[in-house]
Amino acid sequence: MGKTVYQLAPSLLAADFNILGSQLKTIEECGVRYLHIDVMDGVFVPQISLGMPVIESIRKNSGLVFDVHLMIVEPERYIDTFLKDGADILTFHYEATDQHRQIIDKIHAAGRKAGMVIKPATPIEDALPYLKDIDQLLIMTVEPGFGGQKFMEDMLPKIRKARQMIDKENLSCDIEVDGGINKDTIRLVLDAGANVIVSGSSVFRGDLKANALYYKGVLDEEGRKA
Ligand code: DX5
Ligand code: ZN
Repeated sequence: MGKTVYQLAPSLLAADFNILGSQLKTIEECGVRYLHIDVMDGVFVPQISLGMPVIESIRKNSGLVFDVHLMIVEPERYIDTFLKDGADILTFHYEATDQHRQIIDKIHAAGRKAGMVIKPATPIEDALPYLKDIDQLLIMTVEPGFGGQKFMEDMLPKIRKARQMIDKENLSCDIEVDGGINKDTIRLVLDAGANVIVSGSSVFRGDLKANALYYKGVLDEEGRKA
């Protein structure tokens, strides 16, 4: 397997939408490559966040990799639209559909990366059979639905199991983690084997540039060690 690439994926949910354009520019200038975009429908999760028009609009001015996290029921109904609007990595919840293979195939047919995400209560064993087919497994480290929650340390064994299988079978699947990642918890997820790190409040709250550079520095250093 090639060298593991570590990415910071700042979560758009925590951005200041009054100055969104300049915030996206700032993270790009810090060398960040990914942008995590949370889409919530008020059914799969209690909140409604943002949808297609926002993605379509920011796509025009951003070279970031759009890492779209769909927290919606029946994701199969919207795959085409999110691909059209500019998702580079499109991630759907395992729990939200029974059409896993069809969705993965559709995303790949469009030349994009397919991601699958599991909620905290979903055992890692449910996702392992898909690791050879998907490009990214997202392991939630909080209950999906809200930013700013506390990291669930009992998710670490899931990360370890996924990493073990990926390494053992030489797969090229990334492991992303999402929820409650901050300066204290990032070490835990990296040591467990995650390589794509979502962070909302701890990147956007306070000094965006300093925060982005800090996390980018930690991940670049991890990449040099890998
Ligand atoms: C929660 C979302 C997260 C959220 C993370 O459902 O999936 O991406 O924005 O926010 P923090 O990093 O603040 O926990
Ligand atoms: Zn997310």
